[in-house]
Amino acid sequence: MKAVRLDGYNDVPVIRDIAIPQIGPDDVLVRVHASALNPLDVKLHSGVLQNYFPLEFGYTLGSDVAGTVEAIGAHVTGWSKGDKVVGRLDPVSGGALGEFACIPAKQLASVPASMSFETAAGIPTAAGTAWQALLEVGDLGVGQTVLIHAGAGGVGSFAIQIARAVGARVIATASGDGVDIARTLGADQVIDYRSDDFAEMLSDVDLVIDTIGGETQQRSFGVLRSGGKLLSLVAPPDEALASAHHVTASFVFHMSDGARLRSVMSSIGTNGIKTLIDQTVPLDEFATAFARQASGRARGKIIVTMV
Ligand SMILES: NC(=O)c1ccc[n+]([C@@H]2O[C@H](COP(=O)([O-])OP(=O)(O)OC[C@H]3O[C@@H](n4cnc5c(N)ncnc54)[C@H](OP(=O)(O)O)[C@@H]3O)[C@@H](O)[C@H]2O)c1
Repeated sequence: MKAVRLDGYNDVPVIRDIAIPQIGPDDVLVRVHASALNPLDVKLHSGVLQNYFPLEFGYTLGSDVAGTVEAIGAHVTGWSKGDKVVGRLDPVSGGALGEFACIPAKQLASVPASMSFETAAGIPTAAGTAWQALLEVGDLGVGQTVLIHAGAGGVGSFAIQIARAVGARVIATASGDGVDIARTLGADQVIDYRSDDFAEMLSDVDLVIDTIGGETQQRSFGVLRSGGKLLSLVAPPDEALASAHHVTASFVFHMSDGARLRSVMSSIGTNGIKTLIDQTVPLDEFATAFARQASGRARGKIIVTMV
């Protein structure tokens, strides 16, 4: 099968013929139709995370996969050949950017017949992270106000819609055409971070989702109400700054969780949440997709199709 392989940190990813993965008794072999890229793939490739995510080479890139069940392990129940599924592979193992992927059955969720594989592939990491941060850690509820940085990005585009679905007031940052995109996704207020200063404009926010880090994170403490929360997806927040502002702050690390993914899929169906797709490219044009992901400018998800 064809797969996007890395032979070492920072090596140019190459499309190679490799053996179809062998499944264990608790695994499912998925015929991959679409896979989504994430900033994590770029960070894994660069080696910047190798102390936390040590890769074994040759490594097949990618964590997010959507496709059909091709084969099931001896202990697997509940899935049959041909079922439409979506899931997230362990990033250290990788394996989503290939024509077939081996994934533990417990990490899978069903894809509705009406949903495209491209739409489904964009969901596991980005929507799963938004869900975990907003609802499981952030405890966001009706009538609360949340500031979501990078509202037009992969995580932000889902976060806006999930926050709206729970009845929160949503403020997002974006720039250029991202401002209209974030508004269309449901943000009540969008601040163009290139021309306006969110830190001067906002106060009494209950929750900040920091997808940027650095100065953006530091300046976000000031917009929170006393007792509010800052959750960073990028860098551990400064504890001293948090206590100086009488708020709590923590780093959220997204863990693959099939039960969460099934809840996310169900909420997406109920609430009409959409996958914002920046671009879809065939596997042979993977290099274009990877460069776009590395640019940090994507509007939503970058999807690679296998069939
Ligand atoms: N901790 C975890 O488990 C976890 C999980 C998922 C993601 N993450 C991290 O979270 C970050 C966001 O992920 P993602 O998938 O949403 O990335 P992404 O899709 O690559 O985000 C791209 C978006 O970021 C916007 N952006 C860049 N700088 C900005 C700024 N200063 N203010 C507001 N928006 C800005 C860009 O808009 P413009 O082009 O208009 O600037 C673009 O739309 C990444 O660093 C990723 O690694 C962490």
